[in-house]
Amino acid sequence: MENRRNIIMDGDPGIDDAVALCLAAAHPEAFHLLAFTTVTGNQTIDKVTENARRLVEFYGLDIPVAKGSVVPILRKIETASDIHGKNGMGNVELPKPVKPLASENGVLFLYETIKSLPEGEKVTLVPTGPLTNIALLFRVFPEVKERVDEIVLMGGAAFGGNVTPTGEFNIYEDPEAAAIVFDSGLPIVMCGLDATNLCGIDREHTAKLMGENGAVCRAVGQMVQFYLESVVYKDKPYASIHDAVTFMYLLHPEIFKAVKMPVSVDCSENKNRGMTVCDIRDWNYDTEPSTTVLMDADSVKFQEYLVEAVYTLDRRLGK
Ligand code: RIB
Ligand code: CA
Repeated sequence: MENRRNIIMDGDPGIDDAVALCLAAAHPEAFHLLAFTTVTGNQTIDKVTENARRLVEFYGLDIPVAKGSVVPILRKIETASDIHGKNGMGNVELPKPVKPLASENGVLFLYETIKSLPEGEKVTLVPTGPLTNIALLFRVFPEVKERVDEIVLMGGAAFGGNVTPTGEFNIYEDPEAAAIVFDSGLPIVMCGLDATNLCGIDREHTAKLMGENGAVCRAVGQMVQFYLESVVYKDKPYASIHDAVTFMYLLHPEIFKAVKMPVSVDCSENKNRGMTVCDIRDWNYDTEPSTTVLMDADSVKFQEYLVEAVYTLDRRLGK
């Protein structure tokens, strides 16, 4: 299937990382998933790596998992157990992995995977956690950037935050890494809270998924249900599946409003730590911005396509 994008996902599963991977796995006609590299974020590196290994096999993906950075570049680890549970997956226990970990050095593994692409091919990086691995990759192996066609990341916000009034978790956790990535000069699509807050699965669909016979539907439903019971979503009609917006944008860009604008990152110690400073002053751009920010989304279409993908994978695997 020549129209497929080469994809490397770098994440911190994480409930919404897990649902994002389900969406990608349901669309092999669009995505050639090459690898999953893990990064400390929602939970510690050992937990998110174990989760990634279990998810890859649970979704029937024959791809390597490599363990990435144990800590952010400068800041201390601040996990999100209250949102993602002690195991990082809403306390849903998937079957233990069979395949061994492909590498204990995720940054080197990223480099080797990208360098081994066939001549003329490039890769789209899909980070759904803090950007530590991607930043270290660009610092240690800067030449690899010429094999990256685009970075479609979940993180940041033109307005607002979730860890602080102006800090979104993935950027807040490692602002220095985010600054390195946003300053890389590569084309970036920032799937920030302006769009991802609008993109979720509601209580009705979650209950239906939980009641299905299929293992994929049930697991996704149970993970999202944990989200819905968390402090963030317990009074809300749906839970935002932030990370899935990355792959949904690649599948259905038409359901989003995308605006090109420069983005920089506040790496201070003050109250705006990790803020993505999005410059909407389009009369003031001296060059074409390399970053595109998603500013709106069709919530109904997002949920329709995402739930459809869960059922598609469930039926394909027939678990
Ligand atoms: O702010 C949402 C992001 O933080 C998502 O990637 C979620 O998984 C957490 O990592
Ligand atoms: Ca994540």
